[in-house]
Amino acid sequence: MCGIIGCVGRGDETLDTLVHGLSKLEYRGYDSAGVAMSGDRLSLCKKSGKIDDLREALSKTSLSGSVGIGHTRWSTHGPPTDANSHPHQDCKGDVAVVHNGIIENYQSLRDELVAAGHTFTSDTDTEVVPHLIEDALADGADPEAAVRRAIAQLEGSYAIAAVVAGTDAIFAARHDSPLVLGLDGGATYLASDVPAFRDFTDKVVYLSDGEFARLDASGWEVTDSDGVRVEKDVDTVEWDPEETGKSGYDHFMLKEIHEQPRALRQCLRERVDEMAGAVDLDDLGDLSPTGVQFVACGTSYHAALYGAQLFREAGIPAQAFLASEYATSVPPIGDALVVGVTQSGETADTLSALRAAQKRGARTLVVTNVVGSTAARECDHAFYIRAGPEIGVAASKTFSSQLAALNLLTLGMTNSDDAREVINGLRELPGDLQRVLDESRAEEVAEMYTDAGAYFFIGRGLQFPVALEGALKMKEITYKHAEGFAAGELKHGPLALVTSETPVFAVVIGDDEKARKTVGNVKEVEARDAPVVAITDGQTDVHRYADHVLEVPETHERAAAVLANAHLQLLSYYTAAKLGRNIDKPRNLAKSVTVE
Ligand code: F6R
Repeated sequence: MCGIIGCVGRGDETLDTLVHGLSKLEYRGYDSAGVAMSGDRLSLCKKSGKIDDLREALSKTSLSGSVGIGHTRWSTHGPPTDANSHPHQDCKGDVAVVHNGIIENYQSLRDELVAAGHTFTSDTDTEVVPHLIEDALADGADPEAAVRRAIAQLEGSYAIAAVVAGTDAIFAARHDSPLVLGLDGGATYLASDVPAFRDFTDKVVYLSDGEFARLDASGWEVTDSDGVRVEKDVDTVEWDPEETGKSGYDHFMLKEIHEQPRALRQCLRERVDEMAGAVDLDDLGDLSPTGVQFVACGTSYHAALYGAQLFREAGIPAQAFLASEYATSVPPIGDALVVGVTQSGETADTLSALRAAQKRGARTLVVTNVVGSTAARECDHAFYIRAGPEIGVAASKTFSSQLAALNLLTLGMTNSDDAREVINGLRELPGDLQRVLDESRAEEVAEMYTDAGAYFFIGRGLQFPVALEGALKMKEITYKHAEGFAAGELKHGPLALVTSETPVFAVVIGDDEKARKTVGNVKEVEARDAPVVAITDGQTDVHRYADHVLEVPETHERAAAVLANAHLQLLSYYTAAKLGRNIDKPRNLAKSVTVE
């Protein structure tokens, strides 16, 4: 997964605009970056490493021009070297191309091009594209026709932008990988995601699969694959540019953890009628599902596990599937609603699962953060979590907002006996969460266990997905071993791992049978000398067996899951900070994974 930026019409500021855009897109991939500027000849600079390495390389060159493209890469084909960085060029250096996605037929195209005399300088799949364009130009095609001819030969997923020497235009196309235009009067931008140009404009046009865009000094045009003009809607993005800065926090992740109360208010705004004890699901209409299948990956899968429990509690059969497993063996769907949970709306595994369900005639709905994302456009229905942009690679505020949105969905689609209690819990949630964030002792606890050999997390019922999420966050940003378990499973094997070196974080909410059983599991680990940290609302006596307690206010257990998770987010954050990890950009990870 990579980030693309393009810009036309900012005169001498074009190069700075591209580099600024790349720094905003670095969350999409960060092992190398590059830019190409178009004039009579193309000039290009690319570098393995971070955007700062590219900046340094640029300071030793003199790139100029008023049309340019740039790229930040996360390797899929070939290691992160200067040669494998984008943009890629043809043999003559007249064409430069940036690409996000995977070209599945690149090997056969490359073999043909090599046999025809082309010389390749990288290991990437992308490099076939400039050589295909070069061939078409040599056959007499004009630059736009040459790019179209090259694109028509590609199989796989791509967002592509190309520039050709002597042509003051950017050509772009997409298939299964996002691209959005930004319109700013005189200037036009092109990017994988809005933050790349949000400092300059809030007017955007989302490209759809199969569309082709031309950006030049006279403006922009979108056409279909046959060259027929497509009328596009111009949308206005609703969040401010400051929302993509760090606002004084050391990391985006910490900022985003602290933004959760506001994100939750946005998610709930105008959707909850407290007087009537009802929710309004925008314009989703009456979906009344008889069954629900959730598909999702990573953190979103944990949200899906939580969502499936909510539907089951309301008497609707529901199951959560890992998206990457769903498509390989699609379960019988019947007339179930298939719900994708994906903050980005671009995760390839989740898109594949949703498409597999659609092929079998299922109705689909996506719970997502990104308006105009592929999932939002392809599904029958979209329900937005409204968390605002999330830049830190590790999901934080989007998870909380997913849980809130899934509560709204369940309330809106089912008849829950305790709708009023849930709504009360949701109404109190932003304020409760603010208190948890203000008063959390997670930093102190993190300091005590920075040297731990492994971290275990346990929870039952709705707190089980919270335990899984706590462990995922810990692994992702600290690079240390962490596992989440259903509390009752511990004694079926994992207990063998528990020692005095392995703190166990137990989420215990309420004082019902579930909570009491979890306290029993806590006693089991305490008896094996494991340090115990209880995340609890204090309704059981778990504190008697715990070395530390992280408190959450008493509230509905659904809301308590969000509160408990906030402590665990802070715990991972401060552990990673103490270990000096690259918190916003953990090694080997990307914000949205657009490959299967
Ligand atoms: C973990 C994380 C990932 C994502 C997963 C799905 O912090 O962010 O596990 O949750 O890659 O991403 P989306 O929600 O964009 O489909």
